[in-house]
Amino acid sequence: MDERKRYQKLVDDLNLHAYRYYVLNDPIVDDATYDAKYRELLAVEEQHPEWIREDSPSRRTEPLAKTQAAKGFAKWTHRFPMFSLDNAFNEGDIRAFDARVRKELGNPDGLSYVVEPKLDGLALELEYENGKLLRAVTRGDGKTGDEVTRNALEIADIPQQLSKHEHLPELFNLRGEVYLDEAGFQALNERMLSEGGDLFANPRNAAAGSLRLLDSREVKRRGLRFFAYALGNPELPGITHQMDFLTWMKNLGLPVNPLARVCESVEAVQRAYEAFQQQREGLAYDIDGMVVKVNGFSMQRELGTKSKSPRWAIAYKFPPIDRTTVLEDIQVQVGRTGAITPVAVLKPVEVGGAMVSRATLHNRDEIARKDVRVGDTVIVRRSGDVIPMVVKVIADLRPEGTKAFSFPEHCPACGTPLVQPEGEAVTRCPNQFDCPAQRSQSLIHFVSKKAMNIDGMGEKLVLQLVEEGKVRSAVDLFRLSAEDLLSMERMGEKSVQNLLSAIETSKNVSLSRFLFALGLRHVGEHVAELLALRFGSMDALAKASEEELLSVDEVGPQVSQSVRAFFADNANRKLLNQLKELGIDPRIEGGKKSEEHPFFAGKKFVVTGTLPSLSRDEMEDFIKRHGGLVAKSVSKKTDYLIAGEKAGSKRSKAEDLGIPVLDEAAVLQQVKS
Ligand code: IVH
Repeated sequence: MDERKRYQKLVDDLNLHAYRYYVLNDPIVDDATYDAKYRELLAVEEQHPEWIREDSPSRRTEPLAKTQAAKGFAKWTHRFPMFSLDNAFNEGDIRAFDARVRKELGNPDGLSYVVEPKLDGLALELEYENGKLLRAVTRGDGKTGDEVTRNALEIADIPQQLSKHEHLPELFNLRGEVYLDEAGFQALNERMLSEGGDLFANPRNAAAGSLRLLDSREVKRRGLRFFAYALGNPELPGITHQMDFLTWMKNLGLPVNPLARVCESVEAVQRAYEAFQQQREGLAYDIDGMVVKVNGFSMQRELGTKSKSPRWAIAYKFPPIDRTTVLEDIQVQVGRTGAITPVAVLKPVEVGGAMVSRATLHNRDEIARKDVRVGDTVIVRRSGDVIPMVVKVIADLRPEGTKAFSFPEHCPACGTPLVQPEGEAVTRCPNQFDCPAQRSQSLIHFVSKKAMNIDGMGEKLVLQLVEEGKVRSAVDLFRLSAEDLLSMERMGEKSVQNLLSAIETSKNVSLSRFLFALGLRHVGEHVAELLALRFGSMDALAKASEEELLSVDEVGPQVSQSVRAFFADNANRKLLNQLKELGIDPRIEGGKKSEEHPFFAGKKFVVTGTLPSLSRDEMEDFIKRHGGLVAKSVSKKTDYLIAGEKAGSKRSKAEDLGIPVLDEAAVLQQVKS
């Protein structure tokens, strides 16, 4: 293709992609591909300015921003335009940015930058009149956006009234990002899955879709979050720097990202970028890069803006976490509860720093909806510790002769016809007791670290033992002999002795771990602890009435029904009796854990960061052993945060809420004193 034609095609492609992304919310390429094409376009336009088309994405104030109005919202013209940001992708780009800034300012003394995480959501402008929230407007095309005030009022992070403060102008405009945190995104997609709705590909799409809902009550339910990061007014008398501005906003009661900080040099900016990338996984929300801003407001004004972005700021993007690859096979897995999960086997691809070769396809309906076929090119997404997922198929790249996937009618492990209960998204193998796959998966769960914690009993060994018929249920594990184990692959005298003693030790398991190990539906680690604390023994739990179960804080009808169904089952009762005869009957004497300590009893702890000697799991165990409860995120209900190095956002949240922060030594000291 000659270069001119190539240019025409680039413009057309980019316009199509922008349309699919912004208007249809249904992209057909990943961000990295788009960015690469866009850079190519800019390079050609620099060589051949005479070719530049009117409709080139580089000419627009905003790449095909939602020109298509969202229905149902009034349009509002921003008092001051809302800009977007140029991108940097590597150290060279960021050094070039710094060099340009310095040159344009004539190599000033006292130049510093503020770096902030780049939140992956959507920009929102808030307008406060005498401290009261007057209006909330999306960016739209940068000049005019949708007025979504009603919905913004349902976002808990957005104050309706600012605290009284110096320098607050009568009319105060600020910008920030509306986003969904990982937990909110997961919960929303789980709800979508169970209600049979379309899944959101990522938190950004979910946040954008949620802010545009016409039903404000549903907006509230979605748990949108907000961080404030930029001034909308042209200036703010009395405040001269971005960092001071952020602190000032925080004092007004606005949520400001705690990771923002000042960097005195471009080297420091680069180090901050690397540090943010390290922290990225541990954050409760998605970030797709870091924003670098010139700190001084007067320097910002001196640098000014281009048509669609300021010259004083840049987005320093992370490598993408959405990638395309080829789907080579679809397998189905049988879980320990019989749930059948289809899994995509992928041509291995690096996604956000990890190799991905398998991704979940969720369930039968999801495969059908996305029409995923073997041979398809698909977009894969990975975020945080969530299992990678297939976001969508790129239909244009489908080879000829592919066939729609036909979901199996029978369990691949035991051949029993599968069932899909009315109104449920999950297909199941109903052969609870005899399906070998369910049996092995239950056993793998039973011996796992957070359950019976039988060291040396790995997944492979369990599968082998089940396959050879040496183990059918948990009871058989405790009857294994040295000869049984010696005949297994890679098992020598020494490892067999170690394993047998690990099995013996595991009989002293705590009640909560034992309960968790049994794998009752809806009884995870946390619920198991609550039940153990309340009932103290398996016998007491077996006798608990519905009312007694429901009277436990955080236990609802799902859990209570599951517990009652478990004990109503003869096979389960028999199993418990056999285990008891083998010496496994954990209890909490007098309703108290033997090691219960008044400092810990009944209090809620959160552990974060790297501790000097214990791992996080070990610290959590320590707390539980002494009667404390462990939660994953900091809330008003948290009693103590235990923080090590690189504690990050949980620490700042605890500090904001006035929750005491302890280090490892202080916690261990409690028990000694
Ligand atoms: S400042 C003129 N700060 O990134 C300055 N933007 O690609 C405008 N974003 O439209 C934005 N985190 O939606 C700024 N800490 C942050 C940000 C941030 C995310 C988004 C925002 C903006 C887009 C530009």
